[in-house]
Amino acid sequence: MKRTTDYGWERFSALPLADKAECFARPDGMPFHTIFAQQFGRGALDRLCDAATQIRAIAKTRAGMEFLQGQLFHKRAMIYFTQPSSRTFLSFLSACQILGLRTGEVRDASVSSEFKGESREDSIRTFSSYFDLIVMRTREKGLAEKMAWALSRSRRPVPIINAGSGKDQHPTQALLDVYTLRRSFERRGGLRGLTVVYVGDLARGRTVRSLSQLLANYEGIRHVFVAPAQLAIGEDVLASLRAAGQECVVSDDMAKWLPEADAVYMTRIQDEWDESRGESARIDTSRFKIGLDQMRLMKPGAILMHPLPRRDEIAPEVDSDPRAMYWRQVRNGMWMRAALIASTFDRLSRIDKYYRDNL
Ligand code: NCD
Repeated sequence: MKRTTDYGWERFSALPLADKAECFARPDGMPFHTIFAQQFGRGALDRLCDAATQIRAIAKTRAGMEFLQGQLFHKRAMIYFTQPSSRTFLSFLSACQILGLRTGEVRDASVSSEFKGESREDSIRTFSSYFDLIVMRTREKGLAEKMAWALSRSRRPVPIINAGSGKDQHPTQALLDVYTLRRSFERRGGLRGLTVVYVGDLARGRTVRSLSQLLANYEGIRHVFVAPAQLAIGEDVLASLRAAGQECVVSDDMAKWLPEADAVYMTRIQDEWDESRGESARIDTSRFKIGLDQMRLMKPGAILMHPLPRRDEIAPEVDSDPRAMYWRQVRNGMWMRAALIASTFDRLSRIDKYYRDNL
C-alpha cells in the first residue's frame, strides 16, 4: 500500500496516476482526497450514484433531513474558491448543509494574507487547522493535488475535494454528469455502448477531460470529440482513453455526429484562458451551436447536457425539449456532492442502512 508520507513532493508529483490514487484513498478504497477523475473505478461510481439517490429520497422528509444533518453535524468545511463561481460554490454549500456540516468560505485571496506575500500553500494550511474538509477551486492546475499531498503528511490530515483545478480537472462535475447519464439510461440498459459527443472548447474545458476519463469505466463507449481545430481535445486524453480500450473519434463536423449521439455534451468557449485579448473571438464557432434545427437531427431518446454556464451554444428555445438535461444536472450535482462528502467521512453504510430501514 503506497502512502503519501513515503514521497517528497517532487517524487510524488511524478508518480503515475494509479499510484497517486492509492495514496489518496481511504482504507475502504473510496477516495479520501478527491483530486482527479482517474481515482474512481466502476465500483466507486456505482456506490456514489446509489448514495446520491438514497440521500435525495431520505431528504424528502423532516425526519430524514434530521438524520442526514446528524451525520456530519460535528464537522466544519472550508469552501476555498479563488476562481469565479457561484453555481458550484452553492452546490457544495447546499451539499454541506444537507449533511449538517458548518461552512466557512474564502472567495477572494486578495483580502487575505496572501496579499501580504504569504504563499497560497501556507494560507490553505493555516485555514485547514480550523476545518475538517477543504473544497477547493483554483486557477492553478496542481494546487489541489499539492495541498492533498501536504495535508496527508500533516498530523491532522484534512481531506481536499477539487472543485475545479485550472484547465485540468473537475472531478465532481464529472461525477454528477455520470449520475445524470445513469439516471437517463438506467431503464435502457445503462451506459454500456453509448455514443457520447462532446462539443465546444475541448482544449481548455476541464469538464470534458474529467468526464471522458470517468466514462472509460464503462464498456464500449464511443467518445466523439467535436471542436474547431484550434480547440481540439488534448492528445493526452485520447492516449489514455485508447490505452483503456475506448473508441475515440476526433471531428470538426457536429452535424454529422448529432444523429449518432446518445448524449451530446456541449461546452462554452473558455476565453478566460486567452493569451491575447479577443483571440477566441476570431475562431469560427458557428457550426458548434445547438438550436431547434440541430435538435431535429438528434435521436428521440438522446439527451443534451451542459455543465453550465452557457453562452449561446444552446439556444434558450431548446430548454423546453424533454431531451435537455442541463437543469437536471444542476440538481443532481447537489445530491452527488452530498454523496461524495458522506463517502469522504465514511457515512455511506449508515445512509444505506437508514434508507433500507425507513424507505
Ligand atoms: C464549468 C467549470 O467551471 O469548469 N462550470 C461548472 O463548474 N459548472 C464549466 C465552465 O465554466 O464552462
